[in-house]
Amino acid sequence: MKIRQTTLALAAIAGVSILAACGGSDSAAPASEAAAPAAEEVVLANGMTPKEQIELRQGQLKKLGKAFKTISDELKAGEPDLAAIQAAAASVPVESAGMADWFPAGTGPDSGVKTDALPAIWDDPETFAQKIADFQSASAGLVTAAEGGDIAAISAAFGQTGGTCKSCHETFRADD
Ligand code: HEC
Repeated sequence: MKIRQTTLALAAIAGVSILAACGGSDSAAPASEAAAPAAEEVVLANGMTPKEQIELRQGQLKKLGKAFKTISDELKAGEPDLAAIQAAAASVPVESAGMADWFPAGTGPDSGVKTDALPAIWDDPETFAQKIADFQSASAGLVTAAEGGDIAAISAAFGQTGGTCKSCHETFRADD
């Protein structure tokens, strides 16, 4: 297996040098023939490819989904595990830190990467930024409520924060 991989890698390197040789000044390939770069080759201003950026945010959003499931399950339990709720609530601001930077131009459906992010994010950046701000302030309230330990207050803050997730999804996420 290892030998096979090495062979393939060498073949790939050889392929690159052949291509490089073909790209020399004496090859008169018209510019129009230059293929549009594949999604993997595009590099965003932050140094990531669209695929990396999209997968990063989807991974973080999955973590938020998990944290919310934990809190929801605990709140439904006969005896909620407060420590579990507190840990999950505390993870929300951590895992969503920098959310405003997760959607740079070039990471929408046009990127060719599978994403549920709707073009509205880039068409209406002000509303999108407001949804992020609403979510961040609600989730800070959830952390405070969780620390306070009062289940009714936690439920209220949880409902409020969940509402901000939903509100953003309704406008800016496909399949919702
Ligand atoms: C400001 C808008 C916004 C807020 C707030 C927001 N989301 Fe999302 N969410 C999105 C977008 C856009 C996507 C699609 C991302 C993609 O596919 O590139 C998404 C995707 C997801 C996904 C699917 C991830 C995947 O690819 O598997 C989950 C789960 C999720 N969000 C949970 C949450 C939870 C839970 C909250 C609140 C705690 C939340 N989101 C808050 C915009 C938001």
